This record gives sequence, C-alpha cells and structure tokens, in this order.
Amino acid sequence: MTNAQKWVAVFLVLFVGLYFLSMVTGTFEEEPEDLSAYADSTPPTEVSGAEMVKNIGCISCHGADLNGTKLAPAISGLSEYWTRDELINYLRNPSEYDGGERFDDYRAKYPNIVMPSYGNYSVQDLGKIADYLLSKE
Ligand code: HEC
Repeated sequence: MTNAQKWVAVFLVLFVGLYFLSMVTGTFEEEPEDLSAYADSTPPTEVSGAEMVKNIGCISCHGADLNGTKLAPAISGLSEYWTRDELINYLRNPSEYDGGERFDDYRAKYPNIVMPSYGNYSVQDLGKIADYLLSKE
C-alpha cells in the first residue's frame, strides 16, 4: 500500500466507525413518540400525587376523599379498568376518551360537568397522580 492508500483506508474506517456510532447512540437517544406534545407542560413538582389531587382541584368535583359528589363519580378501584399509561393519557385529554358503557353512564349522570383536561401538567406529575389513584382501593 502506498501512503495515500493508507490514509484513504484510515478515513474510510473512521467514517464507517462514526456512522455506526451515530446509529447506536441515535437509538439510545430516541424519544418515545410524541414527547413534543409535552413541551409546553409545566416542569414536574416535588409534590406527591395525593397532595396534587388536593391542590389542583380534583377534590372539588370528586369529593374530599374522592368518594364522589353530585358533580363527579367516586374514584376507587381504578386498577380494575386502567393501566398507568392509559390513566395518564386520560388525564391529559378526558374528552377524547371513549370509555364505553361505564362512561356513557357517567355522562348521563353528570350531563353538564366536563372532566377538565390536565395536559398542561408534566407527564411525571400526572404519573404521580395516576400512581396515587391506582393505589386507592
Ligand atoms: C369539573 C369537575 C371535575 C374535576 C375538577 C375533575 N374531574 Fe375527574 N371526572 C369528572 C367527571 C364528570 C367524570 C366522569 C367522566 C366524564 O364525564 O368524562 C370524571 C372522571 C374521572 C375519572 C374516571 C373515573 C373512572 O371511573 O374511570 C378519573 C380517573 C378522574 N376523573 C380523575 C380526576 C383527577 C385526577 C382530577 C384532578 C386532577 C379530576 N378528575 C378533576 C369531573 C371532574
């Protein structure tokens, strides 16, 4: 090999190496689908899920112990119906949720009340709320 050929070989190896490196790191950096939708959410707080439920007004409709009021159903035994991710998505956009008969009943029972959307909260905070709600019997 001439010197020039050696240099070409060195660069080739370098480029191929970099290419694979970027592929590997690229897959590690890949974000779950639509994180951009969360970009405008508030940063996560230090507050627990239970406290958030009190602070951000859930109890004004669902009741102090989340046992239900004239405005909204009791929140209990949710783990029977929801996974954590489903619940987070529901809180982000309740009106889009097609909950079948159970929700048809809710909408008949609370016709003028709309469960507000909490999409402006961070997914971490909604996760804490979801964990808390799912842990309730
Ligand atoms: C303005 C009243 C109101 C507020 C405030 C409210 N909700 Fe609701 N929520 C409802 C109503 C009404 C329903 C019944 C379903 C529907 O109409 O979409 C509901 C349904 C739900 C459900 C589904 C219950 C089930 O049986 O699956 C969950 C979970 C829930 N709310 C959690 C929350 C949380 C957490 C907060 C606070 C972050 C909150 N809600 C704040 C009115 C409210």
